[in-house]
Amino acid sequence: MTEQQGILGRAGLDQLRDALVDAEFTQAGVAARIGPEAWAAAEHEDFRATLAATDGADDPLGVLVRVFLAGQTEREETVAAALGRLPLPQALASGLLERAEGGLRAGIDLDIYGDWWVVADLPAAARPGRPLPADHVLGVGMASMTLADATIRRPVGTALDLGTGCGVQALHLSEHVEAITATDLSERALRFAATTAHLNGLSWELLSGDMLAPVASRRFDQVVSNPPFVVGPGVTTHTYRDSGRPGDGVCAELAAAAPRLLNPGGTLQYLANWVHVAGEEWSERVAGWFAGTGCDLWVIQREVTEPLDYVRLWLYDAAEGHDPQRAAAWLDWFDRNKIEAIGFGLISARYSGSDDPIVVCEDAFQRLDQPVGAQVAAWFDRQDQLSAVDLEGLLDLRLRTAPGLRLRQDASMSPDGWAVDRQVLELTDGMHWAEEIDPLIVSLVGGCDGHTPLRELVALLAAAHEAPFELLALSLAGIVRHLITRGLLLP
Ligand SMILES: C[S@@+](CC[C@H](N)C(=O)[O-])C[C@H]1O[C@@H](n2cnc3c(N)ncnc32)[C@H](O)[C@@H]1O
Repeated sequence: MTEQQGILGRAGLDQLRDALVDAEFTQAGVAARIGPEAWAAAEHEDFRATLAATDGADDPLGVLVRVFLAGQTEREETVAAALGRLPLPQALASGLLERAEGGLRAGIDLDIYGDWWVVADLPAAARPGRPLPADHVLGVGMASMTLADATIRRPVGTALDLGTGCGVQALHLSEHVEAITATDLSERALRFAATTAHLNGLSWELLSGDMLAPVASRRFDQVVSNPPFVVGPGVTTHTYRDSGRPGDGVCAELAAAAPRLLNPGGTLQYLANWVHVAGEEWSERVAGWFAGTGCDLWVIQREVTEPLDYVRLWLYDAAEGHDPQRAAAWLDWFDRNKIEAIGFGLISARYSGSDDPIVVCEDAFQRLDQPVGAQVAAWFDRQDQLSAVDLEGLLDLRLRTAPGLRLRQDASMSPDGWAVDRQVLELTDGMHWAEEIDPLIVSLVGGCDGHTPLRELVALLAAAHEAPFELLALSLAGIVRHLITRGLLLP
């Protein structure tokens, strides 16, 4: 069982769970009660149809929906009835509910997330005009879902969710991991995570402490983290976003810890920010974090933000947007450190123990299809396949094109008719990579039917272009490996 206390004692949490189950405060129950369209709109914070469907209702589900999903204040008697056996004084003492003019309202965020319940602090929008407190615990947000979507989902024995907050990553891990450990610096977060676990009938080892301290000398098959990655001077105002480490130090620290934290073959995936320093390549900076760790590495940079926009974003995130002194100090720090921009992306590392690991850091600003985690797993698989073959082995492969692969041509009119300017191979799903290729590669890819060995295709091209086979094979090997890595050609 979890070592941490939830917001209520065990009996209280059982009573709360019973109330939620009895009322059918679940995705299916609410969708049936208010209608699928109202539910879909509610998931996007549009509660008009939800309020209309539950107007004046005093049945337990209607009341729970109005209080916990739509942020309404309801009469004390109806809320007490909706809580079933959970005594109202306990619900109030735990912070689950709070008094407001005209009755009771939610004091914390008790949300339906897929087939789970998740508890966290109420978002800033629920308390307009009030900056978030320093120990605010985030609910499920965009970043949480980005990481959850990008996580490799393969059955493993042990996993660590570092910086668990409300426990959202641990919930997802519970679908494919036998034993889950979740840590956080914040005791408040751990109380929420314990509540989330208990309400969903799950059991996690919950440990308190700074970064790796609670799991020192332990190893896991899988580690995920949505860490407090916000880049700044190292001042902590909000635990959910500030690590107290200057710059992107917290993300570098996680990278350096990988070989002590992972079992052989284990994976570490986390969301990260990294700084773009004048005169330095971001990719070299991030790859440098992993130097000597023995980890294969795939980093995709999804966004690049200028300092002013970055500072605005994070000040507004914590409802501190009105503080020009803080903004100025933060921006001055960026200037002093020659930071021109801040990158955001996904880091996926696998502990292979190799002296010469695979390291790829690249931009991926294009649309990605969900789940990205499947793409990450496939990327490592393809890298393994490629590592296992030398040039001769590569030439023996019978490659096929990815399903839905398209060739796009840009042409301009010339005196001789259409002249092709550029040809681009495009994946129409998954990672949506687009690769500009020359006519020789167009022919080669065109012959990849899944039956003909690459060797034969190269021989045909060599004959057609009167080029020496060995030279052509050698010069095509690089691009073929690249197209396989990106999943445009499949072995
Ligand atoms: C961005 S939130 C992520 C929460 C949740 N895992 C998710 O995916 O939404 C970062 C979490 O890291 C925790 N945290 C902050 N500093 C930490 C530290 N030094 N060590 C461990 N956890 C920390 C915060 O309390 C917070 O719960």
